[in-house]
Amino acid sequence: MIALSRRQFICGGAAVAALATTPAIAASGIKNLPGGKTEVSLAANKVLADVGGVVELTIKKYGKIALVRTSKTSNGFAAYKLACPHEGVTVVQSNGGWKCPGPRGHGAEFGLNGSLKLGPANSPLKPLKITATSKAVTIA
Ligand code: FES
Repeated sequence: MIALSRRQFICGGAAVAALATTPAIAASGIKNLPGGKTEVSLAANKVLADVGGVVELTIKKYGKIALVRTSKTSNGFAAYKLACPHEGVTVVQSNGGWKCPGPRGHGAEFGLNGSLKLGPANSPLKPLKITATSKAVTIA
């Protein structure tokens, strides 16, 4: 397994920020591991073979999250919570990234990598620590 550093996450995220996205689909091939980790099979989620591919899943300790293919490298993935950092509304895909929808949300926008593009939120979507192999991504 390969642990992603903060720098690798940010660099990979910056690269994917400019990419066209595919609509997120519900992840399959999800396995709960000891220690509260979650494994997502790459074979079961073919959309993650392509840079810009996105799946969504719900993890008990994080709520709804996105897993995104950020590059073709073996560790080229990013995962982050889909709760808006402003007041917690779940963001939805919009214009190649994410938007916090009304009426409860206030229109904050985020890049595909979770970066903040438009307030009133003042921080990015919360990134999650992952490790990746050629077969699966594990979310800590
Ligand atoms: S809850 Fe998302 S912008 Fe306010």
